[in-house]
Amino acid sequence: MNRATTIKKSSMQEGIRKIFSEVPETYELVNHILTFGMDILWRKKAAQIAIEGNGKMWMDVCSGTGEMADYLRRFAPGDTRVFASDFSFPMIQKALQKKESSEIIFIVSDINALPFPDNTFDLVTISFAVRNINLDREKFLQALKEINRILKPGGRFVAVETSQPKSEIIKKIFHTYIRLAVKPIGQLISGSKSAYTYLSSTIPRFYSAEEFAEIIKQAGFGEVTFKRLLFGVTAIHKAVK
Ligand SMILES: C[S@@+](CC[C@H](N)C(=O)[O-])C[C@H]1O[C@@H](n2cnc3c(N)ncnc32)[C@H](O)[C@@H]1O
Repeated sequence: MNRATTIKKSSMQEGIRKIFSEVPETYELVNHILTFGMDILWRKKAAQIAIEGNGKMWMDVCSGTGEMADYLRRFAPGDTRVFASDFSFPMIQKALQKKESSEIIFIVSDINALPFPDNTFDLVTISFAVRNINLDREKFLQALKEINRILKPGGRFVAVETSQPKSEIIKKIFHTYIRLAVKPIGQLISGSKSAYTYLSSTIPRFYSAEEFAEIIKQAGFGEVTFKRLLFGVTAIHKAVK
């Protein structure tokens, strides 16, 4: 990658950080409205899949307002340490306003440079954020490799993300809904045009469940499986280091 490309990528990342820093106050409400509350069930399902296994060091990356980290905390055996990281300080500030957050260790960090030694965690989760680290295939792989690096051998990676329905008709309906609803409703409630223009543009472009599984393998993971939810508009991927 030449210097100009590196600068462009880092300014894209800075743009994304600014976008998320505009919306923490209304972020959860907009998600719940746009998904008719289903995002709550999807995160919970992903957390239930994630907790199946051993180990007491758990981490939710790109944690936003900490909803997924909070499920991990609720499901965790007593002596588990639950961490959450995000590069947007306002998002973390919003998470810290919740009283449950006192049991979670929050860290401001870019996913590409997590401040932990190799082989630290037994579990890393990411919910509705892999689309945001998919600046291009190379950057995406780099972020997934960073997750792989901080996991112990045998550690689990669980991602819940919007996906592409297999049925062309359902895919069309889904993309039409995204185009017609996400931008206006998101903007109306949050007051941020850029955030929901950006978010609505990332959903139709994201990979199918099979393609994402292949990329996870390329990042060095094995035992990659996935489960489609609601005709495949969302998918939960699980992999092992
Ligand atoms: C769509 S939100 C998802 C938040 C939360 N995980 C959820 O389930 O709703 C994406 C989050 O990823 C964070 N994010 C995006 N790119 C990041 C990066 N490179 N490093 C760290 N956090 C990042 C954003 O600040 C934002 O809080």
